[in-house]
Amino acid sequence: MPELIIRKADKKDLPEIQKLLSTYFLDMEGLECEDFLLAEKEARVVGGAAMISNNYKGVEFLELHSIAVHPNRRGKGIGARLVEALLSNLPPDRKLYVRTTSPRFFEKMGFGKLPAAVKSGLWEDCANCEHFKNCGQTILRYKGGN
Ligand SMILES: CC(C)(COP(=O)(O)OP(=O)(O)OC[C@H]1O[C@@H](n2cnc3c(N)ncnc32)[C@H](O)[C@@H]1OP(=O)(O)O)[C@@H](O)C(=O)NCCC(=O)NCCS
Repeated sequence: MPELIIRKADKKDLPEIQKLLSTYFLDMEGLECEDFLLAEKEARVVGGAAMISNNYKGVEFLELHSIAVHPNRRGKGIGARLVEALLSNLPPDRKLYVRTTSPRFFEKMGFGKLPAAVKSGLWEDCANCEHFKNCGQTILRYKGGN
């Protein structure tokens, strides 16, 4: 069976990343290609996920962003491999959060749900969002590390 390769993305991967994210109406606002890890099988990008540093009101933290697996490849462990690879590079003293519409997946990966109000303390776009009360995104924090 062809091996799944997890690798860092670079600028030449931009079209593939955009194509993958557009499947789920995700965009790359505030993200660079270099923020992504990609999952590749038979030289095709089948998944990707980004990790970025944020700083809001003096609070520094990491955010797992824009994870997506090709629709035909979902449910085969690719998302889990991407998250595990990102977690393996997690600095021990940094908190990692995710805002997501797939909280069950992240709970399986060792994240715990937090109250929705935490979002407005970490992201300006949440603090200023007119849809905050009806937001479909759950916030979770990785329970491993510190
Ligand atoms: C969420 C997503 C990245 C998961 O990737 P995946 O490769 O399908 O997930 P995996 O096969 O690695 O699943 C790992 C575990 O999580 C579970 N899981 C995966 N997606 C799930 C979901 N949406 N809800 C509940 N459980 C889920 C799997 O059943 C599996 O559990 P198991 O270990 O008990 O068998 C993928 O489904 C996807 O691209 N979804 C659309 C885009 C999206 O919603 N991204 C999140 C925006 S932040």
